[in-house]
Amino acid sequence: MDTELLERTASELVAPGKGILAADESNGTMSKRLAAVGVDPSSETRRSYRANLLSTDGYESAVGGVILFDETIRQSMDDGTPIAEALSSRGIHPGIKVDTGAKELANHPGEKITEGLDGLRERCVEYFKMGARFAKWRAVIRIDEGMPSAACVSTNAHALARYAAICQEQGLVPIIEPEVLMDGTHQAQRCYDVTAEVLGATFAACAEQGIHIPGTLLKPNMIFAGNDCPDQASREEVARLTVDCLTNHVPHDLPGIVFLSGGQSDEDATAHLNLMNQMDVNHPWQLSYSYGRALQAHALRTWAEGGADSAAASRSMFAHRASMNSLARSGDWSLDLEA
Ligand code: 13P
Repeated sequence: MDTELLERTASELVAPGKGILAADESNGTMSKRLAAVGVDPSSETRRSYRANLLSTDGYESAVGGVILFDETIRQSMDDGTPIAEALSSRGIHPGIKVDTGAKELANHPGEKITEGLDGLRERCVEYFKMGARFAKWRAVIRIDEGMPSAACVSTNAHALARYAAICQEQGLVPIIEPEVLMDGTHQAQRCYDVTAEVLGATFAACAEQGIHIPGTLLKPNMIFAGNDCPDQASREEVARLTVDCLTNHVPHDLPGIVFLSGGQSDEDATAHLNLMNQMDVNHPWQLSYSYGRALQAHALRTWAEGGADSAAASRSMFAHRASMNSLARSGDWSLDLEA
């Protein structure tokens, strides 16, 4: 394991002011998002939308890495430059989603296990040659009556740790993403307790598999009440509960925590990160972002409008969200900057 390379990549991904753009929607998810804004989904429309986004001026000051899907890392920008090469030449690390999706967990109706370990070593070798320097694997944990089960927590933790071990062996920084979903009627405290349990199991599995924590990033959910709970936590409460949970359940030699946005509004995702970075607490890790929807939702809608100016307008929407989140990395964002 090249620990020096892993540590350098991890620290560059979460350098001051920087975060990650998650543009690794699977073909199925990206096709749904395109169809929802009236665009015919195809390999070419997925490429064309992403090539436009990734050609935005100056976003490398806010984005240290972009997570790609298998189809995208094999595609090119409009001028024919391979997408991974276009990113690297701007000082942005290409990343790759390597899981093959969350499938039904046997004997546990309604729960999921993320698959993709078979052949993973060979795929990592190929992705590294194509320029990828980090990877992502997302586990999905649902809160409901009797959920998550012990089986769901332990199998997903084990898979995350095995994925991370193979990535590190091949020179890719693993982003470990155990996402506790926002769906449900539960209180924020229940999300806190489940997130704590999941983080505990995940890092115990990582210890068992020999994961080099200083060459790893964590992509967690923030702590919220369920979407259908009438009793929603304030932004300040979300920030406080989230930092408290992470402080107690994440190793302090981890270089960075890069949150998922998980369906929050653009502004909530930025405001929560900003509040956490403003808190009078000495976090041992960088607190940053790896947002998908919260960086792209407006940019996608605008691109889909078509017409002469939509591509440029889409890029400027993305540049704006990236710079707002970059400011939130140091607690320097404020609402008036959104105007
Ligand atoms: P969202 O920020 O839209 O939740 O996506 C992040 C991601 O990569 C989920 O795996």
